[in-house]
Amino acid sequence: MDCNIALTGFMGSGKTSVGKELRKLLPDLEFIDLDAYIEAMTGTGIPEIFESQGEEAFRNMEKMALQDIFDTNEMLGTKSILALGGGTVMTDACRRMVRRNCRCFYLRASLDTLVSNLKEDSGNRPLLRSGKDLRSTVKGLMELRGPVYESAAHYIIDIDGKTPTEIAVDIITSL
Ligand code: S3P
Repeated sequence: MDCNIALTGFMGSGKTSVGKELRKLLPDLEFIDLDAYIEAMTGTGIPEIFESQGEEAFRNMEKMALQDIFDTNEMLGTKSILALGGGTVMTDACRRMVRRNCRCFYLRASLDTLVSNLKEDSGNRPLLRSGKDLRSTVKGLMELRGPVYESAAHYIIDIDGKTPTEIAVDIITSL
């Protein structure tokens, strides 16, 4: 593979699971989950970063982490599969970096799929902790983010009803 692969999409669209599956099919690439990279870089969990430093500080960390990853790849001649955070491409500089350095795939899911995936698993996601109804929070954020995911992506993969393995195969097929 001659380029990095980035996975974008809303929280709960399966970026991390699909990235791990993709890695099995493309063993020359390393898999990096951007949230985990930031947690390792700072020694702090994402919810704690939001709580103690705020969202803007976290967005800056995403930018620095991406720059670091692309610089390292450039230096070592390596390539990565990158599972971005759900809000990474909302930062202009991050979106530009991703477009320039990666083939970017948007894992597009319906509201029903997102809500169902997030129901079990929203506790660790600061932006879903507003106390508001999960469905209306996701709907509101998706109205803002859907068009940005589409503009960040080189490819769009509809993921409803598919397993991470099936999605990874769809990605390989479109490369
Ligand atoms: C966020 C998504 C999260 C994490 C942070 C903010 C967002 O990543 O980066 O909580 O703004 O959508 P996942 O999409 O991996 O949950």
